[in-house]
Amino acid sequence: MRKLIIAIDGPAGAGKSTVAKRLAKELGYTYMDTGAMYRAFAWRVMEERIDLGDEKELERILKETRIELMEDNGRLRVFLNGLDVTDQIRTPELSQMASKVSTLKMVRKRMVELQRAIGFQGGVVAEGRDIGTVVFPGADVKIYLDASPRERARRRFEELKGQGKEVILVETLKEMDERDRRDKGRAVAPLCKAEDAIVIDSTHFGVNGVVERIMKEIKNKMAIQ
Ligand code: DC
Repeated sequence: MRKLIIAIDGPAGAGKSTVAKRLAKELGYTYMDTGAMYRAFAWRVMEERIDLGDEKELERILKETRIELMEDNGRLRVFLNGLDVTDQIRTPELSQMASKVSTLKMVRKRMVELQRAIGFQGGVVAEGRDIGTVVFPGADVKIYLDASPRERARRRFEELKGQGKEVILVETLKEMDERDRRDKGRAVAPLCKAEDAIVIDSTHFGVNGVVERIMKEIKNKMAIQ
């Protein structure tokens, strides 16, 4: 049977990662966290203190940036030129920097190339902001996962706290709002629902409910192949 491409888009904190990981596991597919790729690149930009207006420098590091996603005991590890940056890329500062670098056309172009190279043969559950609209417009199942801003901020807050980070809920809410606005308002590949995407609001829906709902769509798609 042909392996499918499952695209999950939506704003931060909507539950994309949890749901995408579960789906990939159930299907035996590759889980592709495209946000982690933007974060890894942003980490390098910060490390090298590169000015986002300096196109030459950006081009240089884009050319020599290798990003690999590897599964390790159910956890996704992110490598940048062989260096494990999994933990470093999950700070609020990196979230903002990833959102900023992702507004740049040349950065998106390179990331989309890398993402297509990973997923073009199918058997992938990819999550991000532009998967159903730009990366895989022909994806077999497209989901736009959303939740109320308060609930999304609460989830991100709990996640960061769980990692032992010092966070304040109103700060998380503010940070998320700023990022949402930038991600939805940028000129290149803004976050938006693909025309043929199914919208799921996870505000009052547990992970199991969301996974079940999407699995139903996937099974329908598999049945008509
Ligand atoms: O999914 P995330 O929060 O880890 O993503 C971090 C940032 O990367 C997000 O604010 C916008 C950007 N991003 C993007 O522009 N396109 C994607 N497909 C994934 C992430």
